[in-house]
Amino acid sequence: MQHATQVAIARQLLDWRQRNATQNDGALMANPVADYLDPDQFAREKQRLFREHPIVVGLSAHLAAPGSYLTNDDTGIPILVVRQADGSLRAFINACRHRGTLLVAERSGVCERQFVCPYHNWSYGPDGTLETVPQEHGFPGLDKASRGLAPLAVAERFGLIWVLPTAGRPLDLDAYLGETLVDELASYGFEAYHANHRTRIPAAMNWKLLYDTFLEFYHAYFTHAETLRHLMAPNLVHFEALGPHYRMVAAKRGIASLEEQPEANWNLLDQAVVSYAIFPNLAINFHGDHVAFYRVFPDAKDQGRSLWEFDQLTPEAPKAPKAQRYFEKNFHYVVDTGAEDVEMGERIQKTLASGANEHVLFGGFEPILTWFHSRVAREVGSAGPVPLG
Ligand code: FES
Ligand SMILES: [Fe+2]
Repeated sequence: MQHATQVAIARQLLDWRQRNATQNDGALMANPVADYLDPDQFAREKQRLFREHPIVVGLSAHLAAPGSYLTNDDTGIPILVVRQADGSLRAFINACRHRGTLLVAERSGVCERQFVCPYHNWSYGPDGTLETVPQEHGFPGLDKASRGLAPLAVAERFGLIWVLPTAGRPLDLDAYLGETLVDELASYGFEAYHANHRTRIPAAMNWKLLYDTFLEFYHAYFTHAETLRHLMAPNLVHFEALGPHYRMVAAKRGIASLEEQPEANWNLLDQAVVSYAIFPNLAINFHGDHVAFYRVFPDAKDQGRSLWEFDQLTPEAPKAPKAQRYFEKNFHYVVDTGAEDVEMGERIQKTLASGANEHVLFGGFEPILTWFHSRVAREVGSAGPVPLG
């Protein structure tokens, strides 16, 4: 983040802190509970949001060597991504072109020479070309050149691998993210970071309830009384739309220490958590000395189930035992904090169909909730949040 932007946001946060205020510029909104319950909407979300938008399916750091690959089923489309000899990436639908067997079952690995389908041993090069058909005389007229793995558009930016999970659709990531967000994310240099820890946690709630927990800090003081309260200033947050996505800067308690230094020395990134909400399911939290990438996915069948994946990346591989312990502890701390969020979301899920609420409320200092659910509604043709009253 540019220094001038940091100073402008810090000034605003310090001013609100002095006045015991926070950003509060949204209307009181009511979002129908059907948004989380309707199975037809859920089916449209999976199709429209998770197959027709760029989705992060993995980390560049996990695919360093030529031939290294990962598979991903989180969008409902089986995806295979392979590092090519020239350093570029290719992505495919992970399906054999003979009779459709799932080609690669492992979550990750290195392809030495070919991907070999276990059913009849049709074999593909790392670039997806169909190279070998055993007893090929049994397939008269087979055009091998047109039977390579079905390609998917892939892009690699900020250490993240993005795929558009519909064959034949192009992916223009710069256009999707917008210039301001691209420039800001580029400023951190995440592509050089080390992938330190990962976890995947299932949750008994609609995927949007899970994503909601990343979209406001109002709850941090209460839900995270044991984990975040001592660290974060209570609900002191700056929100800004960056193109079609959002940035949220949540002040830490130490933010007032900036006032003791000349502005030229201000480092907001040490005194705040900077979060990016990237539609439809990615959250990036920058913590100063490391970054956390969060992704939320709907269950394949059940609108009341979802998954969150959390990656912790550090500027370099922590070598000293002290640094390893520090990031390990931080990782478990985030998992514990996430468990508190998951508990709240699951408690909401339990009451949604009870009739107690026809809608849930989004307050004036929860503008990203309104943005996110309004955009979902626009994309899938559901009702979405409306001003209360
Ligand atoms: S289905 Fe893959 S080789 Fe037959
Ligand atoms: Fe939380």
